[in-house]
Amino acid sequence: MSTSVYSRYRAAFAQALAGALGVPAADIEPQVKPADPAHGDLSFATFPLAKAQKKAPPAIAAQLAQTLQVPGLEVKAVGPYVNARFLPLPFTQEVIDGVRLAGVAYGSDAEDGKGKTVVIDYSSPNIAKPIGFHHIRTTFLGHCIANLYRALGWRVEGVNYLGDWGKQFGLVAVGFQEYGDPARIDDMAHLVQVYVQANKRAGEDPAFDEKAREFFRRMEANEPEAMKLWNQFRETSLKGFKRVYARMGIDFEHIEGESRYQGKMDAVIEQIAKKPGTKESQGAIIVDMPYADGEPPVLLKKNDGSTLYATRDLAAAEDRYARFNFDKSLYVVAQDQALHFRQVFRTLKEMGQPWADKCVHVPFGRIHGMSTRKGQVVELDQVLDEAKERVLQRVKENVAQGNLETADADALSEQIGLGAIVFGDLKHNRASDYTFDWDEVTSLEGHTGPYLQYAHARSANVLRKGGGVPTAYDPALLTLPEEQALVRELMRLPDTVKAAAEQYEPSLVARLLLDVAAAYSRYYTAGNKDRDKRILVEGNDAMRAARLALTDATRITLAAGLTLLGIPTPENM
Ligand code: ARG
Repeated sequence: MSTSVYSRYRAAFAQALAGALGVPAADIEPQVKPADPAHGDLSFATFPLAKAQKKAPPAIAAQLAQTLQVPGLEVKAVGPYVNARFLPLPFTQEVIDGVRLAGVAYGSDAEDGKGKTVVIDYSSPNIAKPIGFHHIRTTFLGHCIANLYRALGWRVEGVNYLGDWGKQFGLVAVGFQEYGDPARIDDMAHLVQVYVQANKRAGEDPAFDEKAREFFRRMEANEPEAMKLWNQFRETSLKGFKRVYARMGIDFEHIEGESRYQGKMDAVIEQIAKKPGTKESQGAIIVDMPYADGEPPVLLKKNDGSTLYATRDLAAAEDRYARFNFDKSLYVVAQDQALHFRQVFRTLKEMGQPWADKCVHVPFGRIHGMSTRKGQVVELDQVLDEAKERVLQRVKENVAQGNLETADADALSEQIGLGAIVFGDLKHNRASDYTFDWDEVTSLEGHTGPYLQYAHARSANVLRKGGGVPTAYDPALLTLPEEQALVRELMRLPDTVKAAAEQYEPSLVARLLLDVAAAYSRYYTAGNKDRDKRILVEGNDAMRAARLALTDATRITLAAGLTLLGIPTPENM
């Protein structure tokens, strides 16, 4: 089933309006908006028609409302608006059955992106360097955006474009001779320490800095000894990264890096030399194109002949188009690199690449204040470890108090810790900065991952207590306002997935899930201290089956949404 219940009704309403007005439905559809919930579900404003019809908007609305007949919709004029409300039937059944039929694939639409390819460059940490907040955000955002596009039927080529080339290797290499312990060459944390020390030294000691540059030059010249050492560092870091990705359930289609373009950059520079042209500037080679006042030029080679980040990104963009023939190529990278990407894309355009416009920088803001008990974060693993540790304490307390039964407190804490960190990030608008707070993200209450995981587990628990998912139920029994409100939240996932993919904005899905959980919670608890009884009604099997079916649809929607965000969904917590 490819269209959402919501969009089907909206299309039917627009079609009927268009018929009555004698205009194409495509003109009307964008003007059908969500209604004020007090007045219905869909709303059409008649103001724009007043002039042509020489009538007051309320009169136009009243007349339209009288003539429209749309199955499943109750149409009414409210002032200048024509409003439509979904009749409880068949609407309730369409939503619940749609969710239950789709299962965890609810929200997906394999037709949407059929035959299209998106390349997503995300995570892309630097080898032998401490990770920054931006690697954390790009990893979570990129993973979710990849999931969203996959759900919409796109072929996704996720690329982890490792920062595995550049002068920093020179620093690690020469630093290793001085500060390194050869026995620990396979210890990522050790390499990061060496890098930090060497980087500091280079700032104070020009001769040391020159040695590092020299080492990188040897790498670019493909000298076997330099390459051997580089490869060892790379393997060490990669092993560490892969452990974290496995922990998070992230599987890249491609793990490659800047080093892939070693020896291939002269060809790109030659191509640029033809169009738009290159020129020399203080011994370096730059792209010859107009630059705005004060804008630094795009550097292709430094005066010592070594290549740069931009040179490699230009080579990589061409390579990706050649390999994947993409319809879109996304770069999920911090806002700080906006100028870099603007210039890379502009260079591609000046080169005459017709696909340059398909490249999109998906920027994001900063995380402030993320540090662990061990101090400043150098590995994502540390963040996940600490989240797990903090959660584990609480899980153990709950088990001891008899509030929770779990066979494996450790595994459960891992899942909740992950949910805390990932949701704590994805709930924020991509573009905004936020301040990280351990207590806030790991809390079981409020707008958190653990709260959603708990809502999911609770609905699973209600189903277990109720004897499992009902096969038959009567949707006509679901007439409570809280039930109708909940169904309306469940309905939103498919359209939200589309909007989130189009805007590269996982927070839309995150916030919808909070709305779903809140609506379920209101339903579950409203006016009833004996909570389970609201759903597990005694002595009325029909009512109980209907409420369990709605609970099942809620559980599935939460599971589907959390899975898209990259968050595990334990059944019991
Ligand atoms: N490794 C870079 C960094 O840590 C990010 C790479 C982003 N991707 C790209 N194609 N430039 O800043």
